[in-house]
Amino acid sequence: MGEKYYFIISYGCQTNISDSERYAGQLEELGYRMTENMELADVILLNTCCVRETAEDKTLGKIGELKHLKKRNPDLIIAVTGCMAQEWQDKLFHRAPHIDLVIGTHNIHKLVSLIEERQKKSDHYLAADMTVPAFHDLPTRHFRDFFAWVPIMNGCNKFCTYCIVPYVRGREVSRSVENIAKEIKKLGTQGFKEITLLGQNVNSYGQDLKNGTDFSTLIRQIEEIEGIERVRYMTSHPKDMTFAMIDAMAESKKVVNHMHLPIQSGSDELLKKMNRGYTTAHYLELIEYARRRIPDLVLTTDIIVGFPGETEEMFEETLHFLEKTRYDMAYTFIYSPRTGTPAAKMPDQIPQDVKSLRLRKLMDIQNTISLSYNKEMENKIYSVIVEGPTKNDENHWFGRTTGNKMIIWENDNTVAVGDTVPVVVDKGQTWVLKGHIWKQEG
Ligand code: 5AD
Ligand code: SF4
Repeated sequence: MGEKYYFIISYGCQTNISDSERYAGQLEELGYRMTENMELADVILLNTCCVRETAEDKTLGKIGELKHLKKRNPDLIIAVTGCMAQEWQDKLFHRAPHIDLVIGTHNIHKLVSLIEERQKKSDHYLAADMTVPAFHDLPTRHFRDFFAWVPIMNGCNKFCTYCIVPYVRGREVSRSVENIAKEIKKLGTQGFKEITLLGQNVNSYGQDLKNGTDFSTLIRQIEEIEGIERVRYMTSHPKDMTFAMIDAMAESKKVVNHMHLPIQSGSDELLKKMNRGYTTAHYLELIEYARRRIPDLVLTTDIIVGFPGETEEMFEETLHFLEKTRYDMAYTFIYSPRTGTPAAKMPDQIPQDVKSLRLRKLMDIQNTISLSYNKEMENKIYSVIVEGPTKNDENHWFGRTTGNKMIIWENDNTVAVGDTVPVVVDKGQTWVLKGHIWKQEG
């Protein structure tokens, strides 16, 4: 038998990419090799997201495309995993009988045994129970050199009324500090330079461990680990973020000066309806403290427009909040009703055209702010870890500042992927910075 190949697509958030790396790790142990060419694959794995309807539509479209491959090669194994698999379960088989495996968010470790069963007998196999312990030591195939994702917890207990995540990823389960530290130490010895700690709400890390560990103690411990240059984390929650965590971040030499702190709305009334558990005043206190402790802080956020009951006045409050807070960047979303969440049944759903108009207004304001921050960076030097060529152009390379800003430069073959280099910003644009590698005169 010749080489066996697998092809993986990840939709959605970084946690999904990290899970995909653990699926890939298992497939490699089984002797499969990764291919970028779907047509060559013996196993195709779609690791899906269901946080908004658009994500689901994209996946359903992709599943449809796979039908002809399956017809051509009945031995092809098609696996649908992740949040949408958890949500849809065996309904996915009804929708698309050419799917072989549906694996939910708590069953990543079952991939190998399910593939083996499927090879014995062509049938549909489902693993989507949520009672199993959430952390398994699984082989990991890191998709990138130098940059690694490190999950520190699974699940979410927050139940924001719009969000499906708590239903498809279950309750919070924190990984032990020892286990996290062991993985990061190994990454350090393997040459990884940057890690990103992952959780739906990293600020509630450790609450379930009931041993006094929290996110601030975790990052203070990671500080001691050799090899790793930069530590990032995603995502934060204003209700659980504490001053002590901001202190730990400020005092760390490794944790970067970037904080992603989703506000979701600038209206206190809407925040209540969203069940977010904080007020705009509390949020402002947090960021005021963070900016005082970390003067070069890069602050980014998530905002939803068109949540049920959002009046024009409430939306205006969000716009004002944006102008007051001045984020470096905001990820903006149109509210998407998710079946099973409380908000989907709330009265006063906002018409699509109003949502779109609000999104455009919001983006216009944010773009102006982002551009002004990026213009301020012109003619200054930033330390960047080289990530490699940009997607569309081999001759242009990019890297990120500690604040997570992307800088692109024309490749002059003087730097390699993984190098930490000084880059001068020549031009600040809305989404990206253009620059050149700084070289000392003489
Ligand atoms: N509709 C729109 N945006 C959503 N998000 C989560 N659920 C929904 C939804 N139903 C956004 C939130 C969250 C980000 C990851 O996705 O802003 O912070
Ligand atoms: Fe969803 Fe809220 Fe949990 Fe984030 S904190 S995953 S938005 S429920």
